[in-house]
Amino acid sequence: MFNHIIVRKPGCSVVDGLTTAKLGRPIYAKAMAQHAEYVKAMESCGVLVKALDADEAYPDSCFVEDTAVVCEKLAVITNPGAPSRKGETRAVRRALDEFYTDFEFIREPGTLEGGDVMQVGNHFYIGISTRTNEAGARQFIDILKNYGFSGSIIHLKKLFHLKTGVSFIGDHTLLVAGELIDHPDFAEFGKIIIDEDEMYAANVIEMNGHLVIPAGFPKAEAKLLAAGYATKAVDLSEFQKIDGGLTCLSLRF
Ligand code: GLY
Repeated sequence: MFNHIIVRKPGCSVVDGLTTAKLGRPIYAKAMAQHAEYVKAMESCGVLVKALDADEAYPDSCFVEDTAVVCEKLAVITNPGAPSRKGETRAVRRALDEFYTDFEFIREPGTLEGGDVMQVGNHFYIGISTRTNEAGARQFIDILKNYGFSGSIIHLKKLFHLKTGVSFIGDHTLLVAGELIDHPDFAEFGKIIIDEDEMYAANVIEMNGHLVIPAGFPKAEAKLLAAGYATKAVDLSEFQKIDGGLTCLSLRF
């Protein structure tokens, strides 16, 4: 059960967000409108929303998921791998003070971004990417052990973040795409496969019995509806332009 989410409003500087996509620059007004729709969709899943003010100094700071890993028992402040994003953690730490008394930290030379972390029950899968390194993943696994959790590493070849290519949607089922479809660590899961041309739809949020998905990916949506999932689609085209997925826009706990 999720009770809270934290989001951060995009600033005007969101148009300068880091990107590997070749989809053009985000349109600020459209990004703001899409962010508001995202918040509404999340509220309709039964959570209270804490929205942090925009920070123009950090173009990517709306992607709060990368700055912390949170669950009922644990709050870990990360060390983002992108140098321009490291300072984003301070405001998120302050916001989490309302909900957690103790914090763990990923420290240099370790880097870890929340987009590379997928929780399935008491186990956490950690992607090694251009943003998360082995030292960060090892620190994180050591922290997990102290809280009765376990963790394992998935080496990514092309994916930006682990959750760019896989989402846990409950019922021992993954939504999975690309290089992760046949990954041996996911062999025991049921799978809904996302086609290469709809890769962005592999990143979804299962929350309190609802499945929030990105709008505009009809094959993925049809597969989920056929499988019996109640979906809520949100248009995130402006965030897709800067490599931002649905999960990146919130911390959920
Ligand atoms: N633009 C999202 C990121 O690069 O982290």
